[in-house]
Amino acid sequence: MNLVVIGAQWGDEGKGKVVDYLSDGADVTVRFSGGANAGHTIVRDDKVYKLHLVPSGIVTPDKTVVLGSGMVIDPEALFAELHELTNLGVLWEGRVLISDRAHVVLPAYRQLDVELDQKRAEPIGTTGRGIGVAYSRKAMRDGYRMVDILEQDVFETIDAQDREFLEQYRAPLADMVIDIQRYMELKGNKTVLLEGAQGALLDLDLGTYPYVSSGCSAAAGASLGSGIGPRAIDRVVGVFKAYSTRVGNGPFPSEFQPNRDGRLTEHIREVGNEYGVTTGRPRRCGYLDLVALRYICRSNSIDSLALTHIDVYDDLDEVKVCVAYDIEQSSIDSFPASRGALNKAQPVTKRFAGWKTSLSGVTSYKDLPVAAQDYIAFIEQYTGVPVDIVSVGADRQQTIVRRDPWTQS
Ligand code: IMP
Repeated sequence: MNLVVIGAQWGDEGKGKVVDYLSDGADVTVRFSGGANAGHTIVRDDKVYKLHLVPSGIVTPDKTVVLGSGMVIDPEALFAELHELTNLGVLWEGRVLISDRAHVVLPAYRQLDVELDQKRAEPIGTTGRGIGVAYSRKAMRDGYRMVDILEQDVFETIDAQDREFLEQYRAPLADMVIDIQRYMELKGNKTVLLEGAQGALLDLDLGTYPYVSSGCSAAAGASLGSGIGPRAIDRVVGVFKAYSTRVGNGPFPSEFQPNRDGRLTEHIREVGNEYGVTTGRPRRCGYLDLVALRYICRSNSIDSLALTHIDVYDDLDEVKVCVAYDIEQSSIDSFPASRGALNKAQPVTKRFAGWKTSLSGVTSYKDLPVAAQDYIAFIEQYTGVPVDIVSVGADRQQTIVRRDPWTQS
């Protein structure tokens, strides 16, 4: 059974928590895209783990995790993160593997990433982790993969300064790098969790181009980035929040507007702690955008939705969702490619009564207030996809599973 988990919005949906939860059922977790631009937070037994490169499955003891072929990996950031995990008591040695086809992020890429973004007429607001530079060099066929830095002949062709940087990581990397394809075949893993990064609306092809990241955050990337053929993927889980957020620039049709929505951004930001895990930037906030969510469900074959952060709405008198866009007096309910259209789009909203009670201790779906159940039922009806998991808090105990994505029971 091969299960893909992707973000179904603009990232920061709570994938880390969902992957951590589902990784109990997996033999191995493979992260299939992105780099240290990602920030996945996991809360377990009062400990908070903030991961950027290491797959979220690492927190489950004895499980193996693989940094897949679709990733771009900064060795300095990777070993700093592993050091942090050691400090938190995670025994990771022997459990972290890296695809030999994954690309390397060199130190100069970070500065270049920032400079290139500053030169743009409208900056994207990158995380400055060198991700766009690494994927560009990969596409230009000028990048270096893990296998390249371990092979002496190729290593010697690398610029002297970069070689000096890489030299300190070559030996520890050599112990972790594998041929992912063979590893998958030989291990005969029965259950594989394929973990995405960012969100599908930040995907280079599906997302709000050019205000996107540069890797493949869509479900289609899971196959290439993990060494598992596309027909071997059994199920796709899309993680989304009860509202929307976005970090950095770019269209956001359902973004709260102070003159229309009062202080909703401030409220959601504070209650939901909507600040970037990687950069600390405050996140932009808005209504749940069902037009965008349905587009992502369809373009990623999402079979199962995981709803997170619904408890952030606990205090509100009413909850609204965006069901269509008004663009110059026409109403549409499909997601346009045009950034002009997306920038002009005004959300058409549907109103639901708030539940005005804390959901954080609710452990079964039937105990959710009717108002919260109505909200969820509407999301299912609109997208045509069942909401199988509802997360009512950061801790893994605060997870209501209506249908287990591994077993569908
Ligand atoms: P980059 O991936 O650093 O090039 O950033 C490109 C865009 O994607 C920027 O708007 C970032 O804020 C956004 N982004 C990148 N990674 C994440 C993530 O993990 N969560 C949310 N936004 C992200």
